[in-house]
Amino acid sequence: MSTPNHDPIDRARPIPPADQPARLAALVAAVRARTDLVPRVGMILGSGLGDLADALEQPVAIPFEELPGWPAATAPGHAGRLILGTIDGVPVAVLQGRFHLYEGNAPGLVVQPVLLFHQLGAKIVILTNAAGGANPLFGPGTLMAVTDHINLTGRSSLMGANADELGERFPDLTDAWSPRLRERLHVAAIEEGVALEDGVYAGFIGPNYETPAEVRMARILGADAVGMSTVLEAVAARWVGLEVCGVSLVTNAGAGYTGVALTHEDVLAAGLEAGPRLARVLRRFIAEL
Ligand code: HPA
Repeated sequence: MSTPNHDPIDRARPIPPADQPARLAALVAAVRARTDLVPRVGMILGSGLGDLADALEQPVAIPFEELPGWPAATAPGHAGRLILGTIDGVPVAVLQGRFHLYEGNAPGLVVQPVLLFHQLGAKIVILTNAAGGANPLFGPGTLMAVTDHINLTGRSSLMGANADELGERFPDLTDAWSPRLRERLHVAAIEEGVALEDGVYAGFIGPNYETPAEVRMARILGADAVGMSTVLEAVAARWVGLEVCGVSLVTNAGAGYTGVALTHEDVLAAGLEAGPRLARVLRRFIAEL
C-alpha cells in the first residue's frame, strides 16, 4: 500500500545516477525554452546570500517550481529561483537558494542544479553557504575559501546504477576544491580589500544545529566550518568534471563556543552584514576569470 501523496513532486523519491540524463534533458529543454544563454560559471547562493543575484545583467529568472521535477524552496532565506544572465559580461547561471537534504530531498535532487549547470555548458561552479565556525578563530563575519570538505551527511547522490555518459563510477576527489580557482578567489579578495581565510567545510545533514560535542568532533577531524549543504553538490560537480570552488560565510561561532543559543534569525542577520563583502569578491572573481 502506498501512502497518499498530495505533493505533485515527490522530493524524496530516489534518483540514481542512471536516471539523471533523462531528467536533465527535461530541465535543459525547459531552460532553453526561455533563454539560449550558455553560462560559463554556475553559482549556488546559500542562506542570506541571495542578493548577489542582483548583480546579474539581463536576468532571466525561473522559479524552481516551473522546472520539471523541482519543488519550491522551503528554507527561509532561500528564494528558490534559477537565474541566467551576465556579470560584467561573463555569462552565468545562478541558483538563488538550493535543495537541502534536511528538506527531505533525495540526494539526487540536491545535486541536480550543479548537473544542470554542466548540461547548460558551465565549466566552473561556485558553491557558497552560511556556516558555523568550528575553528575557534573564525567568528561571525569570517569569509572562508573552501580547501576541502568532510561529508558527514552519510549520503551520496552517486549511489545506484552509474550514468557513464555523465561521469565515472569512482570519481577522484584529490584537489576536488580547485587550488587554481582558490588562488583566483584570494587575488579577488585582496583587490577588494576583503579578508578571506582558508579552511575545511564539514557537511552535516541538519536541520538541527550541531551539538557542542559534534562541533568539537568536527574540529578534531580537521574542519574549520560546519554546515548543512555543499558537500553533495561538490562531489556531483567533480563527477561530471566541473571545476569547483566555494566560500563559506561564517555566521556564528559553532555551537558551544560562546554559550549563547543559535537562531536562524542571527544566522540570516550575519549573512546580511557580510553578504555584500562576499558579493564584491565573487563579482571581481567572475569578472577576472
Ligand atoms: N551549523 C550548521 N549550519 C549553519 C550554522 C551552524 O552553526 N550556521 C549557519 N549555518
